[in-house]
Amino acid sequence: MRLDKLLSRLGTASRSGCRDLLRSGRVKVNGVPARDPAMDVPNGAEVLLDGAPLDTRMDRYLMLHKPAGVLTAKEDRNCKTVLDLLPGAYASLGCMPVGRLDKDTTGLLLLTTDGELAHRLLSPARHVDKVYEAEVAGELTEADVRAFSDGIPLKDFTALPAKLEILSPSLARLTVREGKYHQVKRMFGALGKPVEKLRRLSFGPLMLDDRLSPGEYRELTDQEIAALYAAAGLTHA
Ligand code: URA
Repeated sequence: MRLDKLLSRLGTASRSGCRDLLRSGRVKVNGVPARDPAMDVPNGAEVLLDGAPLDTRMDRYLMLHKPAGVLTAKEDRNCKTVLDLLPGAYASLGCMPVGRLDKDTTGLLLLTTDGELAHRLLSPARHVDKVYEAEVAGELTEADVRAFSDGIPLKDFTALPAKLEILSPSLARLTVREGKYHQVKRMFGALGKPVEKLRRLSFGPLMLDDRLSPGEYRELTDQEIAALYAAAGLTHA
């Protein structure tokens, strides 16, 4: 990748600001001052800015503990988005949420620059399990457990069988294999037990890190990335 493009994608400075950095000799590639914005930086090269190494990995994988009140979108005029909770460098690298959680839903949200992985994980054919904790109005019963496992008919489709585990009369853990719009809320709503609070605990093999408070994020470990690749039916380089 061109050096000026790489620096601006890493959020180091704007494309023209990067040229100024280069002109003043503040950037070194593999130990040599680099002044040519068009220089082709080989994969894995060491890039230093003012002597400090830059993290030149292009693909990034993050888990965010999404708080309530934030939109799962890249940008919005009126409302804070999940990208607003991350340092700007992730947006300039092209980090995008994988799927969406409603504005009032909290919990695990995966974000990545890896479009192929995101596409595969979201493919309806792939049936990646998502686990939610739902607090509902009313008391859950064994009849609800059966309704979920039979597949709840909704207005436009019948949901695939899902696993409901009742934790207390109004609290349950639900495992679904689809991710249609408002699906969990619609399923509970169809049983006359509207969702009052919804939190996602896991997405495929990825579990919400309980050390993350709402609004906090971290990069995934290599093992977590490999597990997501396996769930997506891809091999990780
Ligand atoms: N299902 C919903 O209804 N809302 C969410 O945010 C996620 C799944």
